[in-house]
Amino acid sequence: MDTKQLDSEYIASTYTRFPLEIIKGKGALLTGADGKEYIDLGSGIAVNIFGAADSEWQAAVTKQLSAVQHTSNLYYTSPCAELAELLCRKTGMKKVFFSNSGAEANECAIKTARKFGNDEGRGRNRIITLKNSFHGRTIVTLAATGQETFHTDFGPFPEGFVYADPCIEGDLTKIAGEGGCIAVMIEPIQGEGGVNPLPAAFIEELRAVIEKYDLLLIVDEVQTGNGRTGKLYGYMHYGLQPDIVTTAKGLGGGLPIGAALLGERVAQVLTPGSHGSTFGGNPVCCAGALNILSRIDEKLLLSVGEKSAYIRSQLTGLPGVKSIAGIGLMLGIETVRPAKEVIAACLERGVLVLSAKTKVRLLPPLNITEDQLKKAVSILKEVIAE
Ligand SMILES: Cc1ncc(COP(=O)(O)O)c(C=O)c1O
Repeated sequence: MDTKQLDSEYIASTYTRFPLEIIKGKGALLTGADGKEYIDLGSGIAVNIFGAADSEWQAAVTKQLSAVQHTSNLYYTSPCAELAELLCRKTGMKKVFFSNSGAEANECAIKTARKFGNDEGRGRNRIITLKNSFHGRTIVTLAATGQETFHTDFGPFPEGFVYADPCIEGDLTKIAGEGGCIAVMIEPIQGEGGVNPLPAAFIEELRAVIEKYDLLLIVDEVQTGNGRTGKLYGYMHYGLQPDIVTTAKGLGGGLPIGAALLGERVAQVLTPGSHGSTFGGNPVCCAGALNILSRIDEKLLLSVGEKSAYIRSQLTGLPGVKSIAGIGLMLGIETVRPAKEVIAACLERGVLVLSAKTKVRLLPPLNITEDQLKKAVSILKEVIAE
């Protein structure tokens, strides 16, 4: 049996895959089993910040792999400690808990907020999340996700999540005013929700509500983080001061890692035994992430803005384009042609793009070359115009 047959026979049918088997890659260029080359504008859903098989990252990973691949969290390892230090230095946060995915990073954020509430003894445990948000696939992060479609089939869910509509002025204020809330959890740009940056009026309301009701701010940077939007983390565009930041996807450069960064107020909340993970802080993943994070510098972030401006300048005003949303290299394009058709036609012509709800979503590697980007965008333009 070939890969596609084996896959459909033995892998749980949770994904509708594209008709493409990827066998290798370099940077933003991927090679299919058919020998065809594809320009990648998806980065494995915002993961491969420096594209496929990046040699500096490979060297960091293989060096650690040759030393020791896993130790458990019962012992010290330097990649884990150094990565935590770098994350704190770059964000001003105070402590880090490592896990293996975005959902787990959010689980840690939620547990931390709940324990903070319990420790203070004022009976506050409700967490406000946003309508149309996405926070992961575990039962708790599904409960945190403010989209009904994710809630069918999997109940009952844990209590204590309430959903505010960021597009209705005063909704957050009303919910916070009902009392019992300990935190607000947001994505700076709702990714799976359709690439929607939060409205400026909502950010102002958020600031006021947090202050008035003394709430913790949890920012889910799983998709927006690690340079994707042209700042290290998306919240940095808004001048917000989160108490907890969660990150995953791009941090590991392609290896599984998640992290919850804990600010001053919650730095001491997690105590021995209160949380844990067998693989969290794995030295190979951390060595890779340390390499990735140390290379997200001002020059790279500037280039993200420039590439974003190029894409926007090429697509804005085209008859087949209704709107473009997003920041940096996280863009959602509303097309006249159904997104599904655009994605299939791009694939046919050697360009990989994604969807987000009804939009075509672009999340290219941050180091995609100008030539690759030019070529991919010109194919995308052709496809959109058809
Ligand atoms: C904002 C956000 N949070 C959490 C997650 C879940 O991350 P993971 O799939 O690594 O568990 C995702 C995944 O798309 C995401 O976009």
